[in-house]
Amino acid sequence: MSSRTDDRLDGAHVVVTGGARGIGRGIAVRCARSGADVSLFDLRPDVAAETAERVREIGRDAAVFEVDVTDEAAVSEAVDDAREGLGAIDGLVNNAGIQQAIPLLETSEAEWDRHFDVNAKGSFLVAKHVAKRMIADEVAGSIVNVSSVGAERPFPGQGAYGASKAAVLAFTTVLAKELAEHDITVNAVKPGTVDTPMVQQWLTERAEQHDTSEDRLLAEALDDHILDRIGQPEEVGHAVVLLLSEEGDWITGESIAVDGGYLKA
Ligand code: NAI
Repeated sequence: MSSRTDDRLDGAHVVVTGGARGIGRGIAVRCARSGADVSLFDLRPDVAAETAERVREIGRDAAVFEVDVTDEAAVSEAVDDAREGLGAIDGLVNNAGIQQAIPLLETSEAEWDRHFDVNAKGSFLVAKHVAKRMIADEVAGSIVNVSSVGAERPFPGQGAYGASKAAVLAFTTVLAKELAEHDITVNAVKPGTVDTPMVQQWLTERAEQHDTSEDRLLAEALDDHILDRIGQPEEVGHAVVLLLSEEGDWITGESIAVDGGYLKA
């Protein structure tokens, strides 16, 4: 049984990094509902296989690639394999990311570097190799980088994370300028608090550090969202589909908050 929503990405091939779970899974499923085939890049191919199954249930193709986005050789190979498997790549969603709750004065050099490696360098590497393929294939493509409201309004404990997500916004602007001549748009989304394993882990770490309960922390975080509720992964997917589709053709270099109003509260 098909559960298609619309045809806005009909026949497109979209690569989603970190597509095994959480927001990445929501984006992959939402893209499939608009008619896209999806390649999933993740450290966890076993979990990504479940996302691939959800995509196939919608009636679209899916392929899983075990890849660490911080490893340029592995990224380059996975991009070639994805191109070979599901055809020219029309869209990329750079979603793979990590977050640890650590006060800045307790953040080690290794922890700082790890946030930048995965969140900033990883997104750059995948964008670089996918964009080269898009140019070679003469595809009018679209790249969406998943930043965060933490790039602009970080909580205490989001020093390395927020800074790495701000780096993503900076390279989004540059890439938009550099790829315009190839008909490739580059944008970012900035999710607020979304119901995923990452947020669950963040709440657990912060609750331990501050000797409080996860429920209380979540309620405090959501108080700062105008809509006063947590977001769902597919709700980030709605905005991503807009940016990947023809309807987003005149949007580039932009970063869109998908945050229940957090950045305006
Ligand atoms: P998650 O932790 O639930 O999922 C992240 C996925 O990325 C996992 O499947 C993981 O295996 C994969 N991944 C991590 N490191 C990787 C690497 N080096 N190479 C390949 N894959 C890797 O996280 P969640 O919550 O779904 O977040 C997804 C993105 O959205 C992240 O970039 C995160 O920073 C961002 N975000 C999340 C928010 C939230 O409230 N959940 C809010 C704002 C931004």
